Amino acid sequence: MNIFENTPSPCYIMFEEALEANLSILKLVEDEAAGVSIICALKGFAFWHSFPLIKRYLSGGAAGSLHEARLIAEEMRCEAHTYAPVYLEEEFDAMLLYSSHLTFNSLSQYVRFKERVEAAPKKVSLGLRINPEYSEIETELYNPAQPGSRLGILSEAMPPHLPPGIEGLHFHSLCENDSYALENCLQHFEARFGHLIKECKWVNMGGGHHITRNDYNIEHLISLLRAFKTRYPNLEEIILEPGEAVGWQTGVLVSTVEDIIENRGLKIAMLNISFSCHLPDCLEMPYKPAVLGATSPTPESKYVYRLGGCSCLAGDFVGMGDFAFSEPLEIGDRIIFDDMIHYTMVKTTFFNGVKHPAIGLITREQEFLLLSQPGSYEDYKAKLS
Ligand SMILES: Cc1ncc(COP(=O)(O)O)c(C=O)c1O
Repeated sequence: MNIFENTPSPCYIMFEEALEANLSILKLVEDEAAGVSIICALKGFAFWHSFPLIKRYLSGGAAGSLHEARLIAEEMRCEAHTYAPVYLEEEFDAMLLYSSHLTFNSLSQYVRFKERVEAAPKKVSLGLRINPEYSEIETELYNPAQPGSRLGILSEAMPPHLPPGIEGLHFHSLCENDSYALENCLQHFEARFGHLIKECKWVNMGGGHHITRNDYNIEHLISLLRAFKTRYPNLEEIILEPGEAVGWQTGVLVSTVEDIIENRGLKIAMLNISFSCHLPDCLEMPYKPAVLGATSPTPESKYVYRLGGCSCLAGDFVGMGDFAFSEPLEIGDRIIFDDMIHYTMVKTTFFNGVKHPAIGLITREQEFLLLSQPGSYEDYKAKLS
């Protein structure tokens, strides 16, 4: 019997065995490279039901917001490595409490908050995110090293020595990349910041390492990391924070055909999911998701369908192309989207743990009336699982 026939629809479904297989690979890198910590970036994988399992294999979690840092504390039972493009005045002290490491995106944020770190009841190791100005990412939406980037400090803006209290440097400029892209990136990082790396206790090499993909050269990664450590014996820790590699190919989104429409020969299967609401990265990037049992149409394909979302957005299908099936689709058929458990699932909820805005109105008397405030931690946690 098809396992997906009796689940709710729509439904994200994760396969624990696949997750554990990914975690074993990541753990192997940690063990073999020695002195390297691999932590799970929640912005890419926030399926917190499995955080205790993750903690059995990996060294912890990377947070990009207060909600993510607290989720790491509650469900992984450890302190977060925290980096956010901006820290919020009202959240900063709590952020420190949940963090072992905290990285600033700019020197101005460091100056603004450093006294609060000194006054904190516990030590937090501080870092700066730098911009190596090198990346092999082809999609600008995902490229932190693009000209004019707001992510990370440029080499010419850095002082000749690490500012007081800074113990680490952080870069993130990979996305679904192999170890050879990391090798090239390290060359640029070292050429621009080598003198500062020598003053660090730790370096965080961000995410985007596609370590669990079949063709990833793990031996090459391990040798790169070992050689990097040999060049900088001052480093106590090297950190990698993949998200996607943790959740890569670990599950699906189940959906159902609710109607079939024809428009001048084009067949459109209307689904009970929306690309805009549930798979936003398909439209953003855009990319064509894999659908179990479907292929890209050829001139010989007999049963070709466009898969349409159920929202009113006119383009709630755009950029993906059509899909060929081996039999005609019928109302009630299940359509299973593959590999939906990392970014897709997280973006459906509070992506990166970023709070949703409150909702209010200005009354006729010109007074502000707060109607709702849906950004609480409980809201965030309850939208995941
Ligand atoms: C700072 C930082 N760390 C880690 C990650 C995780 O990257 P990935 O999920 O591609 O491994 C990201 C992704 O955007 C990031 O911005």
